[in-house]
Amino acid sequence: MEIARTFAETRAGYEGRVGLLPTLGYFHEGHLALMDLLREKCDTLVVSLFVNPTQFDQSDDFAAYPRNEERDAALAEEHGTDILFAPAEEEVYPGPSITTVSVAGVTDEMEGRHRPGHFVGVATVVAKLFAGLNPDLAMFGRKDAQQVTVLRAMVRDLRFPIEIVQAPVVREPDGLALSSRNVRLDRMDREASLAISRGLFQAAEQVDAGERRGERLEATAMRSMKSLDVDYVKLASQATMKPIETLDEPAVLAVAANLGEVRLIDNVAFDIEGSIVTADRGILLESHSTLSAMP
Ligand code: PAJ
Repeated sequence: MEIARTFAETRAGYEGRVGLLPTLGYFHEGHLALMDLLREKCDTLVVSLFVNPTQFDQSDDFAAYPRNEERDAALAEEHGTDILFAPAEEEVYPGPSITTVSVAGVTDEMEGRHRPGHFVGVATVVAKLFAGLNPDLAMFGRKDAQQVTVLRAMVRDLRFPIEIVQAPVVREPDGLALSSRNVRLDRMDREASLAISRGLFQAAEQVDAGERRGERLEATAMRSMKSLDVDYVKLASQATMKPIETLDEPAVLAVAANLGEVRLIDNVAFDIEGSIVTADRGILLESHSTLSAMP
């Protein structure tokens, strides 16, 4: 595996079809599962590792974000990465940032509402990665469902010739979606966090049994989470990321909740083919994550 510091060095290593997995690093089994999935779909697997300052709403959050390139490089190599693109900030932001990418509409609700400026940072950095690395395809996790919708809209509007592939949510055996923030949960909050996936799965069961009313599905999820500090529980369209009343188009039931200082997001996606609705609950790891258990 090669570690590249510049866009040009990265591009010089391409052979055949190029797949890109953008990340903030500090890999857990969710990131590694995405590498394995993308490895199957391309000839050159590029993983980018860049803690993007412009997408953090609080500068403390940016400063506190865990970083360990050596550890990440070893894990990426084990999972078939050909090139780890780990640029310095100047390579990605060469001057004062006077060009940004802002995606309207699909950023109005949920994460966009609760984290002002976040999606401008995400869209801007991913546009830079796409322009500078020019992959054939790029993979994003459904864990961040609104991020996928925002980036699909950007790719369509800016005419990037890049295929976006989405990957399922990777979960602990007990249901908690993997996140680099999980290490910050104390024992009690870790236990309490199970209310999120439990609530989403209960709502998914209702959908399997024929329920289509958003209000009912939200209420079911909310009942499980009543002891948590919930930012939102919403049934939203996958296309617009706006709330919908009835599950009659591809949708997500999305949640953000705070456990102490730790803010977690999760969702179950509902895909529709013909008249059949399938709930994508993601995939469960067979054994407890070890990577997201250490600080
Ligand atoms: P990061 O949080 O490092 O996540 C990198 C990719 O892994 C994203 O596509 C994210 O959705 C996916 N991912 C994280 N946890 C997951 C899980 N439990 N299951 C499935 N996929 C998961 O998302 C970002 O970085 C940044 O915003 C980025 C796109 C790199 C732009 O800076």
